[in-house]
Amino acid sequence: MLCTAPQLLRPRPRALWPAPRCSSSNDAQPSPLPSSTAAAGGIRRLVLPPEGRAKLDPRPDRDFYAFPRLVTHVDDGFIAALTGLYRERLRAGWDVLDLMSSWVSHLPPEVQFRRVVGHGLNAQELARNPRLDSFFVKDLNEEQQLALEGGSFDAVLCTVSVQYLQYPEKVFAEIFRVLKPGGVCIVSFSNRMFYEKAIGAWREGTAYSRVQLVMQYFQCVEGFTQPEVVRELPAAGGSSASPLDAVMRLFGMANSDPFYAVISYRNFKPM
Ligand SMILES: C[S@@+](CC[C@H](N)C(=O)[O-])C[C@H]1O[C@@H](n2cnc3c(N)ncnc32)[C@H](O)[C@@H]1O
Repeated sequence: MLCTAPQLLRPRPRALWPAPRCSSSNDAQPSPLPSSTAAAGGIRRLVLPPEGRAKLDPRPDRDFYAFPRLVTHVDDGFIAALTGLYRERLRAGWDVLDLMSSWVSHLPPEVQFRRVVGHGLNAQELARNPRLDSFFVKDLNEEQQLALEGGSFDAVLCTVSVQYLQYPEKVFAEIFRVLKPGGVCIVSFSNRMFYEKAIGAWREGTAYSRVQLVMQYFQCVEGFTQPEVVRELPAAGGSSASPLDAVMRLFGMANSDPFYAVISYRNFKPM
């Protein structure tokens, strides 16, 4: 069972989320540093305005994830693209952190990592994930600090979940902190989501603006490399596609999940 792609049922989303601006009206938000003074790992600016962080369902995320969802959140094509990307970018023997994980792993089965640490909101889901050596449960919308040693991971992964982060600037600063210099972060997503739990900036965005948003999450932290974008969209009318397929795609109703990944590395030295 897949989680729904509710935006297909909703009016066409606005073209672009407004240009990023700084705001410090919400105490829970991270305090940005002026870019000229931000040290490596510091937050240079806030990406989201307060309304961009809002969810339609204001209940704690822990309640929403209180029971295990043993479902697959994206289709086989998406998972194949993601596993292929991991095969290219991750190396055997690495320390890997799988943030916002669940019971399934998209890591290449043949690659042996030194350690895979999982994080999520439901312990029963995480306990069933065959690739995790250990895991911890933490609501990143309540508190963003990770109880993990700085500079201890070669890779941090976040799959089809970034849309639920209300304070992404601070989470990405933590990702930077726990990465080793030269370590990679791969954030992947499609067009599916739990609509009422996604932040406003994501719900109201387009595929283009969501990619831009994740790029900005990296760019707002001093010391990440320029983000790289990987897209694999369902084939647009190859020879095997029927005219109906082409029309469905034209209206954003293709029946396979588009794949997007934004990739950035922790610079050895801040640029
Ligand atoms: C759509 S699932 C994706 C799970 C997994 N990454 C995968 O590829 O199957 C979204 C995940 O985000 C995590 N999540 C959602 N809200 C969260 C929050 N506030 N804090 C921490 N994790 C959260 C949950 O653990 C949930 O499993």
